[in-house]
Amino acid sequence: MINMETLYQIGYGLFVVSTRDGKKDNGCIVNAFQQVALTPPWLCLSISKLDYTCELIQKTGEFCASILTESTPFDIFRRFGFQSGRTLNKFANFPDKKRAENGLLYLTKDCNGYICGKVREERDCGSHIVFLCDTTEAQTLSSEPSLTYAYYFKHTKPAPPKTKTKGYRCKICGFVYEGEPLPDDYICPICKHPASDFEKIE
Ligand SMILES: Cc1cc2nc3c(=O)[nH]c(=O)nc-3n(C[C@H](O)[C@H](O)[C@H](O)COP(=O)(O)O)c2cc1C
Repeated sequence: MINMETLYQIGYGLFVVSTRDGKKDNGCIVNAFQQVALTPPWLCLSISKLDYTCELIQKTGEFCASILTESTPFDIFRRFGFQSGRTLNKFANFPDKKRAENGLLYLTKDCNGYICGKVREERDCGSHIVFLCDTTEAQTLSSEPSLTYAYYFKHTKPAPPKTKTKGYRCKICGFVYEGEPLPDDYICPICKHPASDFEKIE
């Protein structure tokens, strides 16, 4: 038996993964990013096929992950996690950024370090593409504690507003699906998380 709730007990960090399409920089909030080998220090990054970031990494083979800190305001999630770079420039008017050696942007605020990767292999895993990558650069910026997914839920994400609406709320971003029942294959239009990440509004 698979209790999907048990998978929530896995701990994650949170990152802004930046990419570039030649002219325009893009950034996307990601939790599914990890170092998975020591020698060499290989990285694993899992990106939803619906994200523009997925297309850009497949095209360029490169990314830069900014490690977010507990100081990160919810606005960073709104900017990089709840809208797509397909239709707008998420780094426009964003002051706290610099370029890494591979030319991609990293955050200079609310970020304690950044790690750049180059794709070695990619694997189609259904909803996501999993990229196995070499580390090409890694720099520490501060000793502020890294933001965890658990901390984000407890302290960063605002409490959902009280509503009389009947339906289901996305636990990741707060989007409300009005209706009954929630289709099993439903995907949040805002943060692209699946039906299993929705809770019934009581
Ligand atoms: C807390 C949080 C965690 C997320 N984790 C991931 C992730 O691990 N992988 C992923 O592909 N998308 C993840 N997302 C969703 C993307 O950040 C979101 O779909 C983003 O708008 C995609 O932007 P893009 O189309 O410009 O790439 C997450 C969103 C949030 C708010």
